[in-house]
Amino acid sequence: MRHLLSAADLDRPTAIQVLDTAAQMAATQAREIKKLPTLRGKTVVNLFFEDSTRTRISFETAAKRLSADVINFAAKGSSVSKGESLKDTAQTLQAMGADAVVIRHPASGAPHSLAHCGWVDTSVINAGDGTHQHPTQALLDAFTIRRHLSPGGVRRVGADGDQGVGGGLDGLRVAIVGDILHSRVVRSNVQLLTTLGAEVTLVGPPTLVPIGVEAWPCQTSYDLDGVLATGPDAVMMLRVQRERMGAGGGGFFPSPAEYMHLYGLDARRIARLPEHSIVMHPGPMNRGLEISADAADSPRSVIVEQVANGVAVRMAVLYLVLAGVPTGDAAPAAGSADAKGAAR
Ligand code: NCD
Repeated sequence: MRHLLSAADLDRPTAIQVLDTAAQMAATQAREIKKLPTLRGKTVVNLFFEDSTRTRISFETAAKRLSADVINFAAKGSSVSKGESLKDTAQTLQAMGADAVVIRHPASGAPHSLAHCGWVDTSVINAGDGTHQHPTQALLDAFTIRRHLSPGGVRRVGADGDQGVGGGLDGLRVAIVGDILHSRVVRSNVQLLTTLGAEVTLVGPPTLVPIGVEAWPCQTSYDLDGVLATGPDAVMMLRVQRERMGAGGGGFFPSPAEYMHLYGLDARRIARLPEHSIVMHPGPMNRGLEISADAADSPRSVIVEQVANGVAVRMAVLYLVLAGVPTGDAAPAAGSADAKGAAR
């Protein structure tokens, strides 16, 4: 894997390879000494043109746990026009010896330009571009679903120290709810989850469902209670992205109270889900809008776990992009020279 720009870059065997590598990485993170020497001498640049808390910190932690050097570049506020600033910035970073650039950008397609316009020859990892793609978020979501639910919808995490290695998400049913229109998370998840065999249903108000959604490999509904009544294995809530709605909220829904009433997940709705179902959210959450506090903090919620899994998944992606070891030898096993090097 040279770049990771879109969930569409991942065919089923590659996606499973990343998830299996992430499971091995997660196992190393349970040790007392979490740092591996795997990417010693490599330089990873975090190039963030848009706000981020967990994704940026997650990539930084992942790179550091693999012993790479990390440069954080918060580019927000630059007055240079987007194309020029991206090209100039990227060439500067390349001149400083970057091996991989992790980029978040408000313009859909910016990571693609960086990877394919010939400006730089580093690896490029998309950490979210506009409303387009966020492939590592979809990978950590798939990883979280796989660790919790075996096909058939039976909870299995923690049963026997199972790291969830092997297999896809065949037959699992996932409902993704909320602001579909502005969400790169949903676009990546629809692609990846269906590649892995899950059945995805999107739910949101008509104003927040994009034109052309019929062509996506999923079902669409405007009726949250109707979809919850079908007993989905996982319910993924999406943030209402007010910063992309323009001044005054853009008229996408009449009021926050009405949005919560029709499309918010609360304890009452969770109580109607099958016992094994899990509740997800990529964060940051608008508590009291798309999700109530009691739903976010309920025992069904795996939201904090998603954040932890993000580090393991990003370690796997950085490892596969920068070390490029084929399937089978993916992560240093306990007791291997690499793992021992962690203690040095
Ligand atoms: C998502 C993003 O930035 O696209 N968040 C994240 O990466 N943790 C979703 C969102 O902002 O709503």
